[in-house]
Amino acid sequence: MSQRYRIAVIPGDGIGREVVPEGLRCLQAAAEAHGFELECTEFDFACADYWARHGEMLPPDWRDVLGGFHAIFFGAVGWPEVVPDHVSLWGSLLRLRRGFDQYVNLRPVRLLRGVRSPLRDREPGDIDFLVVRENTEGEYSSIGGRIFEDTDRETVLQETVMTRTGVDRVLRYAFELAAARPRRRLTWATKSNGIAISMPYWDERATAMAQRYPEVAADSDHIDILTARFVLQPDRYDVVVASNLFGDILSDLGPACAGTIGIAPSANINPDRTWPSLFEPVHGSAPDIAGRGIANPVGQIWSGAMMLDHLGEPAAAERVVAAIERVLDERADVLTPDLGGTGTTEGLGTAIAAEIAAGA
Ligand code: NAI
Ligand code: MG
Repeated sequence: MSQRYRIAVIPGDGIGREVVPEGLRCLQAAAEAHGFELECTEFDFACADYWARHGEMLPPDWRDVLGGFHAIFFGAVGWPEVVPDHVSLWGSLLRLRRGFDQYVNLRPVRLLRGVRSPLRDREPGDIDFLVVRENTEGEYSSIGGRIFEDTDRETVLQETVMTRTGVDRVLRYAFELAAARPRRRLTWATKSNGIAISMPYWDERATAMAQRYPEVAADSDHIDILTARFVLQPDRYDVVVASNLFGDILSDLGPACAGTIGIAPSANINPDRTWPSLFEPVHGSAPDIAGRGIANPVGQIWSGAMMLDHLGEPAAAERVVAAIERVLDERADVLTPDLGGTGTTEGLGTAIAAEIAAGA
């Protein structure tokens, strides 16, 4: 019997609904080529339509509904005309990330053949690193408050939360990743010169973790110079690990340095595998181009490759990424407008699926 994986599919809003079908088309092509099965179940929640009908983004029993799947394949959520962005995001994606303890947000930053970097003179091979972002605590806490509102003493406080468990587990994940890569380099983001309590603690835990991985060359950069170096010297980096806020910024800046936002993938991982992990493109629902069939499906397809890797099908994952790269490089006729072409979402997705089926 061939291996069978149960996948929850949540297209969401806007272009999420256009790129998810192309992601599935490519995943099914990979499954066929590598002899495993993907059993996909689609859900209509986590979108503006659902919110308009139910006043909630997710059903009350979402944990039971989704908890038994091997993975979640997610499009994008957000339709500000109907539901405010903080409601749609906190009511769906952020609940899933926290509820399923997806404490690693992983984003590969790789300049692919066929894509022009906005950084002058950069070529494939110059930019190839991973950003690992802490995804459940840190600066993004809801601890704090306001007092003396509407007076001259109006006072606002918001806390950063770092737990030893939370910090160590994301650092360990990043060191494990670095140890398995050829360059074996790791950089942790800090700002211990300015944020003088939590960031020195982060440094202390990172230094202790580094001692357990002598084969990894580890160093730290303050977040300000780190952002500058992403632009000026992206070839310095191999694995970059950061707290929630710093990682959020780096994980948008990195993919932007490697080309269009339309191709960047993202994984929200529960490494303990107690709960399903969630795979999605970096981009949102793009209301400005939704409904026109011109969204770039590559971010969705590439996030599908990350899902295959997580499921234990690394060869199939590599096959998908290789197919993406060949099509971007050789098939100018199917590229979407964000890549300088005149092609469609379906045209590009179909071309990549055919390339996956053909193999190399
Ligand atoms: P966005 O990523 O949706 O769009 C930003 C710009 O990039 C737009 O001009 C859009 O047309 C373009 N773009 C995005 N994806 C593209 C693709 N695949 N192909 C071609 N062009 C693409 O970000 P924006 O406009 O800030 O947010 C729109 C909505 O999406 C909001 O409701 C926001 O909350 C939501 N959002 C959801 C995310 C998620 O589900 N993870 C992430 C980011 C935003
Ligand atoms: Mg972000």
